[in-house]
Amino acid sequence: MRRLAQRGLLEYRFGRVRKTDDVIIEPQMAGYWPRTPRLSAAATLVLSRFAYLRRRGNEMILESPLAGALVRICDTRIATALATLCTPQKVSALKGQRGFPGLELLALLVDCQILLKVEVAKGDRLRLSEGDENLALWDFHDLAFHARSNEGRHANPSGGLYSYAGVIHPPPAVRPRWPGKTIDLRAHSSTPSETISPLARILDERHSTRDFDAQRPITLGELARFLDASARVRRKWTTNLDLTNDAPEVAYAARPYPSGGSAYELELYLAVANCEGLESGFYHYDADRHVLVPIATRQQELEGLFAAAEFAMDAAGPPQILITVAARFARVSWKYSSIAYSLILKDVGAVIQTMYLMATDMGLGGCAIGTNNIDLFATLTGIEFHVEGPVGQFALGRGRDAVGE
Ligand SMILES: Cc1cc2nc3c(=O)[nH]c(=O)nc-3n(C[C@H](O)[C@H](O)[C@H](O)COP(=O)(O)O)c2cc1C
Repeated sequence: MRRLAQRGLLEYRFGRVRKTDDVIIEPQMAGYWPRTPRLSAAATLVLSRFAYLRRRGNEMILESPLAGALVRICDTRIATALATLCTPQKVSALKGQRGFPGLELLALLVDCQILLKVEVAKGDRLRLSEGDENLALWDFHDLAFHARSNEGRHANPSGGLYSYAGVIHPPPAVRPRWPGKTIDLRAHSSTPSETISPLARILDERHSTRDFDAQRPITLGELARFLDASARVRRKWTTNLDLTNDAPEVAYAARPYPSGGSAYELELYLAVANCEGLESGFYHYDADRHVLVPIATRQQELEGLFAAAEFAMDAAGPPQILITVAARFARVSWKYSSIAYSLILKDVGAVIQTMYLMATDMGLGGCAIGTNNIDLFATLTGIEFHVEGPVGQFALGRGRDAVGE
């Protein structure tokens, strides 16, 4: 049973006196185990602002990006009772209500962070009392998007599954033409090949490399040059916010690629499998000091990271270096409301293209990877998933097709 539970293969049914289930708990993360911490009648509970109720097929489910499990609601009176928790309520006050979910289920929802135990607080202060500062800075839709569009915190089908092939026609590669007169650019853009700029040539040559030459690994010198050109801090400055007299001073550290609001929230973590002059392992690239900082990890977790990259690229072996682009989310959400996560993803596009171009310029190979496991990264680094987490990956090395030196 424990082994099945460890893999998230068990569901847990909660019912009280009636024969039918009140709710069914569906684990979303490996290792989830339902826990029911003791709840005192004096405790004050409120629904988390990250919790949401929705239809899935013909079921009603309650979930949260913070929860290791989702709740299938079978008895709709439970939903009505939980709705009263949009304002903080004492457990003792809930007990008398119709459809009271029962102390055990309340405790389980507290353990999942769908319900929060709070000191009485109102309005904005309620948001701050929901957890740590990093959590307070997340907007609901951003955290739900982050947790559901990456691997590690949900059990939904994920990746290139072609779920609607045979049902909906594949959208065309090129947009159907707009009607009307056109302005032909071909006559204006043709350039004799000898006058093509070096950048235009690199853009033209750029391509994805998924298989790397195990006999000729990338060297530490090449890696240093690659990181220096594509990610090293270039310039630092501070400015005062003009909001109030005691507004804080904000520091900036610009890098070679553009970044929304000059936030430069992206960090590079390197999983090294095969690099001449550098021990295999996991490293943080300190872009300010231009140094690699080794991070102690378990071999099994590092192998999990490489195996997922190999699978995503359908490659014959792991990349020589796997770069994880991680975001310090608060750096962006401290300033931006509603658009923080989407800005971060746009920044990831900018850094990925920068790495592609630098790899091409150096005769190396690279490939963007569209999946991240946010739970595995949290295990590797010991950092909670909402504080700093992976938002992009890039495989780097010397491709099999690289011209020899
Ligand atoms: C955001 C993004 C995610 C990608 N994810 C993957 C991936 O998971 N696996 C893979 O093999 N290639 C991945 N690629 C590479 C694309 O497949 C590749 O860019 C595309 O086929 C065009 O080929 P080219 O890069 O050689 O020009 C990704 C590219 C981007 C930009």
